[in-house]
Amino acid sequence: MENCTPEKLIQSLEWRYATKKFDVSKKIDKKTWAALEHALILSPSSYGLQPWKFVVVENQAIKEKLKENSWNQTQVADCSHHVVFVIKEKMDEAHITKFIEQTAKVRGADAASMEGYKQMMIGDLVKGDRSKVISEWAARQAYIALGNFMTSAALIGVDTCPLEGINPAKYDEILDLVGSGWKTVCACPAGYRAADDKYSEAPKVRFEAKDLIVHK
Ligand SMILES: Cc1cc2nc3c(=O)[nH]c(=O)nc-3n(C[C@H](O)[C@H](O)[C@H](O)COP(=O)(O)O)c2cc1C
Repeated sequence: MENCTPEKLIQSLEWRYATKKFDVSKKIDKKTWAALEHALILSPSSYGLQPWKFVVVENQAIKEKLKENSWNQTQVADCSHHVVFVIKEKMDEAHITKFIEQTAKVRGADAASMEGYKQMMIGDLVKGDRSKVISEWAARQAYIALGNFMTSAALIGVDTCPLEGINPAKYDEILDLVGSGWKTVCACPAGYRAADDKYSEAPKVRFEAKDLIVHK
């Protein structure tokens, strides 16, 4: 594998910005989008449990409805693909069993040999103290996927804008999630910046490294 160089990494991260205006005429091609979906799937999560779904909205009428419920932020309607990060409201034994079975399948292992591990996860997330705050736990996982998605997109020249400025309950209605056991936490439109989006030129506002990085 050929690694991205340190220079190229920083160049991509400096190039990325929270895009305020997308070019409506530019769509992400199939191959590029497939790589970004694959990047979403490859996102890491606690125990590897993947308590999420990524709803990809290309339908213009749905994007318009979502925009009305995203503080009218134009990126939602104007982007190429709008990704909604959805989490499982409660962790349950069925999801953990599915994960164990998938592990057994892809690694050629015996699911029975992972019974202890399975019970440990159930004890922690389904029956233990953390079950009381499980949607916060799941939301944290979703934000990792969001970060992974934005960085991956930047590395292949796709613009994004992370969005918390949305009405998650309305998103759930529009996306038929109500009563499904899944709910919206955040969203991220992706596409290509408009040539006149002045924010693309704005210097990055970050605290100094000495205030953020602690060496011991
Ligand atoms: C979780 C999260 C939610 C955000 N929500 C919004 C949003 O609703 N609308 C928006 O325009 N920008 C939003 N932003 C973008 C931030 O304002 C932006 O990332 C920050 O100011 C740093 O700028 P940069 O991303 O351009 O480097 C959000 C960022 C994050 C990480």
